[in-house]
Amino acid sequence: MRRTIIAGNWKMNKTITEALDLVRGLSMELKDVKDVDVVICPVFTALYSVSHEIEGSNIKLGAQNLFWEEKGAFTGEISAQMLKDANCDYVLIGHSERRNIFKETNEYVNRKLKAALKAELLPIVCVGERLEERQKNETFDVIRNHVTGALEGLSADDLKDIIIAYEPVWAIGTGQVATPEQAQEVHAFIRKLIADNFGSEVAEKLRIQYGGSVKPDNIKILIAQPDIDGALVGGAALKAESFLGIIKGCL
Ligand code: 13P
Repeated sequence: MRRTIIAGNWKMNKTITEALDLVRGLSMELKDVKDVDVVICPVFTALYSVSHEIEGSNIKLGAQNLFWEEKGAFTGEISAQMLKDANCDYVLIGHSERRNIFKETNEYVNRKLKAALKAELLPIVCVGERLEERQKNETFDVIRNHVTGALEGLSADDLKDIIIAYEPVWAIGTGQVATPEQAQEVHAFIRKLIADNFGSEVAEKLRIQYGGSVKPDNIKILIAQPDIDGALVGGAALKAESFLGIIKGCL
């Protein structure tokens, strides 16, 4: 049985004070929640302060990005070790906003993923097609390309620490959630791809999150799908009420 994992990607939102306010509301409400893994991914500047606020709670900390080098002349970048130093357990890699706005390629995603694993951070690797790709019936080609590109050179053993998030770009921030059938179809495809490349045991254990306009009123039907193991939440993770509503919808 795979444990449900709900992660909040705060994107470029919230000052340190605002982040701490939100976290205080969450940690109290979540103290009795044992059956769902909860992760929040604030901006870099808030990570360390938030890590102290969630100490002893059920909430884990994640970052939204990293660079693969350990240190050096890479202005504006941050390493896996630095994220560990700020008490992160998780890191998002290859989010569609990184791929589309900052032109991150599969090769970048792959190098970042290897750096995260080396530092014992748990990576959440994001994959997903754009609207025009779906309209041209290229969804499965794009997903295959993203998944195999990201995981190139990894072993079955590496896969046990990786989470994949399927986020169709057309569903992100649009209010247009994928139907449970559309999401399930892609999740099953990803699991099959992992089974073919790394074996069925690894594939059965792999957690695959859905992301894209997840809200308290649609989480139940999504999480009821056999291959959907959680959600990566954007907008609805910025308010305690809606993020808690999503977590409670999984219990
Ligand atoms: P929304 O939930 O705002 O659609 O964002 C999804 C997302 O990009 C999470 O990483």
